[in-house]
Amino acid sequence: MKIFRLLFIFLSLPLFAQQGGMWIPSLLEGMNEAEMTNLGMKMTAQDIYNLNNASLKDAVPHFNGGCTSEVISKQGLLLTNHHCGYSQIQSHSSLEHDYLENGFWAMSLKEELPNPGVTASFMVRIEDVTTQVMNGITEAMTEADKQIKIEENIANVVQSSPKEAWQENRVRTFYEGNQYMLFVVETYKDIRLVGAPPSSIGKFGSDTDNWIWPRHTGDFSLFRIYADKNNRPAEYSEDNVPYTPKHFLPISLDGVAEDDFTLVFGYPGTTDEYLPSVAIEQVINTINPARIAIRDAALAIQDKYMRADPQIKIQYASKFARIANYWKKWKGETLGLTKSNAVGIKKQQESALTSQINKKGKQQEYGQILPQFEKYYTEIESYALAREYYLETVLRNVELLRTAYQAYQLKQVYDNRGAQSFEDRRNNMVERLEGQYKDYSKQVDEEVFEALIALYAKGVPQQFLPDSFKNMNAQQLTDKVYKNSAFVDYASVKNLLEGDAETVIAKLNSDPGFQVVKDMADAYFEKVAPKYEELELNISGLERDYMKALLELSPKDARIFPNANSTLRVTYGKVAGYSPADAIYYEPVTHLEGVMQKYVPGDYEFDVPQKLLELYKAKDYGQYGENGKMPINFIGTNHTTGGNSGSPAIDAYGNLIGLNFDRVWEGTMSDYYYDPALSRNIMVDIRYVLFIVDKYAGAKNLIDELMLVHPKKEKRKSKNRKK
Ligand code: ARG
Ligand code: ASP
Repeated sequence: MKIFRLLFIFLSLPLFAQQGGMWIPSLLEGMNEAEMTNLGMKMTAQDIYNLNNASLKDAVPHFNGGCTSEVISKQGLLLTNHHCGYSQIQSHSSLEHDYLENGFWAMSLKEELPNPGVTASFMVRIEDVTTQVMNGITEAMTEADKQIKIEENIANVVQSSPKEAWQENRVRTFYEGNQYMLFVVETYKDIRLVGAPPSSIGKFGSDTDNWIWPRHTGDFSLFRIYADKNNRPAEYSEDNVPYTPKHFLPISLDGVAEDDFTLVFGYPGTTDEYLPSVAIEQVINTINPARIAIRDAALAIQDKYMRADPQIKIQYASKFARIANYWKKWKGETLGLTKSNAVGIKKQQESALTSQINKKGKQQEYGQILPQFEKYYTEIESYALAREYYLETVLRNVELLRTAYQAYQLKQVYDNRGAQSFEDRRNNMVERLEGQYKDYSKQVDEEVFEALIALYAKGVPQQFLPDSFKNMNAQQLTDKVYKNSAFVDYASVKNLLEGDAETVIAKLNSDPGFQVVKDMADAYFEKVAPKYEELELNISGLERDYMKALLELSPKDARIFPNANSTLRVTYGKVAGYSPADAIYYEPVTHLEGVMQKYVPGDYEFDVPQKLLELYKAKDYGQYGENGKMPINFIGTNHTTGGNSGSPAIDAYGNLIGLNFDRVWEGTMSDYYYDPALSRNIMVDIRYVLFIVDKYAGAKNLIDELMLVHPKKEKRKSKNRKK
């Protein structure tokens, strides 16, 4: 009996990681509250999400659709990462006013800088609408028909659910189509830049330290939400006023220690925690290597020019950082998946599920899922590879191709929707391109084009290549395109896009840059996309059934949380170090000493500003230091992903203690497989943020807005009183 129990525990342990998960804020009470309390939380689930009263969720807006932010004053002051505000900081920068290089601080409301197009969206309310969305779906329907019906039902829910005029209804799926939730959101559109440290603080360590622990980066920037006179969303106007939040986060000055409870609240983008082992093998062996090779080439070229030319360095800083970020992440992910034996563990989970299916007599319903996964993933492999090459080359890394592709879409808009739609879209495009070409270097792009086009011809399975690529000479093609295409500078593109639809299309057809994109896109849409989409639809049907089986047949204590889908989630854990290899243990907190140890004068990644050196020498940390040291970053077991950047790290009482911005190298596979021993999120200690704002920048105006608290000291005091 005893042996049996032990065996059971042993077998059931690796099934599901005993930590991790990104949970739905409205469902914490039933699913997580007890565990959170066990970990040290002193709040209730109602303090985090409450329909009728202000709660933490009212202080955590989605920042510009891709990051998270938090409101930290009653005048709508907004904190997010430096890398989340990066392109705004860059857009206000020039060689004369280089805010990326030197930082920016508004010493009064009047000095704050508007950012047209930037948004902050609050989540007002969540409601389960699964029944309405599944209405009329039957087992007999094909996947495609189910999809159509579901979309129709979603449109109805969005239409008919109550909301205020300035709000928006959105429906998102959870558990791969097993659950649907309605979100009512409120989007503010006048978001002004308030402060940013120099990159030597906000991006200290740059790409070398990105995804790495120990880390020493002050990755923060400050914005402010502006509203109309009624505190409602409005486009930018001089008459707008600082937004008054329903809730803002008090800031704890008491710091963190190993084992402290932490909660990270934000908008994780995408995870794939329930892929079958065959899919993970494909990521490791096929998809990631292709992506990495393409970006290796693009980055080497951009880097060479950026180092040689300060103008190009500003122009390409943001683009380079974006490309380098996922390039590095994919490398870490492949390593982590391999090292954590994710494939082996998934295989174990799959055979455990298979025995459950057999034991419960569910072969009819679920018995075909795993074999079908094998079949479809084998079939989709070459299509998925071709698709990856296409996306990376045309849409992400060669600027000329991306712009020419937008022109290609213009032609489609004309074919499908007529002259007026063409007009609107063209005008829009011409306007947008002006800003893009401000940061364009023909020389850099030309070299990237040549390298990537050559990789494309070699890496894409032959049957999917456009005919013109089959015996292509990359150098000749590049020469022809960059000598003759209108897409190499703004004036000539603008000129190219002038005239009525027929005229523009005729001009496009004789442009050599457009011809390349047209060949690539035509080949992709004829030979790759239709089959890829058909297989993907079948795979997503299987994922839904697989999820259903997991929910139904897994042990009661299995932690089955929904994949990230850019909706507001709670993840929680503890401040904790980790051991990445034999005899190495990483402490969970770094200090300013570490910045000084990494300091390389004049280096573009590891330089340190003079003022910070002086503050360090004088140990002038004010109320922000701890035992004569200045804490910088810390790590915890919170399960985060892209989109969680800028998320508040919150203590047991609901106070802000840090700002999430990254994950550790050995744990970046957590989008597919969260390993509690290795997966850690990285946060900036909030005291470092305040130290920079106060002591480094002298922006006392901002410090005065904040609510600074001492929860740990308070607790000690009240304990003493009781004694
Ligand atoms: N790796 C982090 C995230 O995925 C931070 C990226 C910004 N930092 C950088 N050095 N590029 O977004
Ligand atoms: N750095 C990421 C972000 O920008 C967060 C992560 O992937 O851990 O959202």
